[in-house]
Amino acid sequence: MRKKPFIVGNWKMNLTLAEGVEFAKSLRKSLQNKNEIISGICPPFTFLKDISRVLEGSSICVGAQNIHSEKNGAYTGEISALMVKDTGCTHVLLGHSERRHLFGEIDSFINAKMKTALSIDLKPIFCIGETLNEREEGKTKYVVKNQLKNGLLGIARNHVEELVIAYEPVWAIGTGKTASPEQANEVHSFIRGFLTDEYGKDVANSVYIQYGGSVKPENTKELIAQPEIDGLLVGGASIKLESFLKIIDAASIQ
Ligand code: 13P
Repeated sequence: MRKKPFIVGNWKMNLTLAEGVEFAKSLRKSLQNKNEIISGICPPFTFLKDISRVLEGSSICVGAQNIHSEKNGAYTGEISALMVKDTGCTHVLLGHSERRHLFGEIDSFINAKMKTALSIDLKPIFCIGETLNEREEGKTKYVVKNQLKNGLLGIARNHVEELVIAYEPVWAIGTGKTASPEQANEVHSFIRGFLTDEYGKDVANSVYIQYGGSVKPENTKELIAQPEIDGLLVGGASIKLESFLKIIDAASIQ
């Protein structure tokens, strides 16, 4: 049986607190009878507590956009897993391409964050994906496999089972260039195959694999119709309520 699509908005460094809170209120209202999908938003850190309060008791998940791997200590400017969990978050984005490429985060650091998050039941949305160069050189599967191997190193089966993996080709993020549904499905299928080989079919099937990269209301239906695409991670189109709702609607009608 197909899973309910899991549609998450990554707001990145956008909106004001007041706008974010209004958005969350309206989202809650609009989705109150929508049971055929699961949705979530990942606002900036400083909105998390207020937005978690607005969405408390609803089915809309709240995620942070990052954490540090250490539980506490002298890490000026960083935020721990427990700190974000305390705000009411259930999820956290880890390994996002902007963290990897703009802030130099490497696989081992991301792996340490994954372990820290899982140790306190904060669910990672683990992001992976190749750059344009890597795709053009035919290295997509090699890159994705390495990111999976290194990111999941030492993580127990029961934790892998709960993961959300977001395949976000770097060349499709914020560029308006979406991977074609078939291109995305091919990589998703490869990811599922990797999970099947490493952890068995049951675990592989329970993992949510989202696609991200220039998702818009206009391309949602054909992306979500692909058999291996279990959900979407939406950037730019998730910061406007209208387009985010259109995406959720399009993903619900299959
Ligand atoms: P865009 O939807 O703006 O391309 O961003 C995708 C993304 O990075 C989501 O995490």
